[in-house]
Amino acid sequence: MKAIVLTDFGDINNLRVQDLPMPTIKDDEVLVQVKAISINPVDAKTRNGKGAAARLANDNPMILGWDISGIVDNIGKAVTNFKKGDEVFGMVNFPGHGKAYAEYVAAPAAHLTLKPGNITHEEAAAATLAALTAWESIVDALKIEENDKFLVHAAAGGVGHFAVQLAKHFGAWVIGTASAANKDFVLGVGADEFVDYKARPLEEVISNVDKVLDTIGGENIDLSLNLMKPGGTILSLVSGKNEEVQEKAAAKGMKGMRLLVHSSGENQQKIAALMEKGILKAHVSKTYSFDQVPEAHLQLESGRTVGKVVIVL
Ligand SMILES: NC(=O)c1ccc[n+]([C@@H]2O[C@H](COP(=O)([O-])OP(=O)(O)OC[C@H]3O[C@@H](n4cnc5c(N)ncnc54)[C@H](OP(=O)(O)O)[C@@H]3O)[C@@H](O)[C@H]2O)c1
Repeated sequence: MKAIVLTDFGDINNLRVQDLPMPTIKDDEVLVQVKAISINPVDAKTRNGKGAAARLANDNPMILGWDISGIVDNIGKAVTNFKKGDEVFGMVNFPGHGKAYAEYVAAPAAHLTLKPGNITHEEAAAATLAALTAWESIVDALKIEENDKFLVHAAAGGVGHFAVQLAKHFGAWVIGTASAANKDFVLGVGADEFVDYKARPLEEVISNVDKVLDTIGGENIDLSLNLMKPGGTILSLVSGKNEEVQEKAAAKGMKGMRLLVHSSGENQQKIAALMEKGILKAHVSKTYSFDQVPEAHLQLESGRTVGKVVIVL
């Protein structure tokens, strides 16, 4: 099978298409013939030796990627919830070695769910790491409730566009930030208010926020704390740029949290259910072929991605 091997940590030239033996599956795994792969900022960070790099470094070959949608080709002896031919999607082995940049992926059955028939493999692949992060942030960590005033930074991005939709579903009043070019997109996914973070200081237009999803880190945490109500909560996702969020928030009488998303077929199933009902949609702004993964990495590293980019096999 074809796979994209990371020959060493570094730039996109280290991503090479190679022929590898088919993966073998353990008793609790399924073999998935991959139809679409989504990529995330952590893919590029890991390629560069950051992100999840330490968890791959001792393996040979190293294969990036975690987000897949495809067709079950074989099942392990202990798998009871899937059969050959099922269409499935999920985030495989995150944070670990997902090995998703390949024609076939061995995935724990517990990390997958059935793909709803009304969405494409591209849309399903897009609704994995980013959607699970939004779900774990909004439901498990921030516990978003009706009428919460909720600020989503980078509302046009992968995590952001899912976070806006989920928070609206749970009844929040949602403010989304992006640059002016993405105003219609952010309002289109359901935000109640759009704020252009480049036009003027956020504190001139945003105040009394209950909960914040920080997708930027660093100074954005300090900035956000000035927009929040006493007792408010900020959740920061950007590892390496959010170590002090708890201390900074506590100093202002607020709560600061960090989160690292984890593979979960159970949460993936809840996302699938909302997609089946048309409540949650994945916006795929661009697709690439398998050979174009290096180009897709450059797109991600631009920091300007709208919704998700997906690799189609
Ligand atoms: N901890 C975790 O488990 C976890 C999980 C997922 C993601 N993350 C991290 O969270 C971050 C976001 O991930 P993502 O997948 O959503 O990224 P993404 O899709 O690449 O985000 C791109 C978007 O960011 C917007 N943006 C850039 N700078 C901005 C700013 N200062 N204010 C507002 N919007 C801004 C851009 O909009 P404009 O072009 O309009 O500026 C663009 O639409 C990444 O650092 C990622 O590694 C962490």
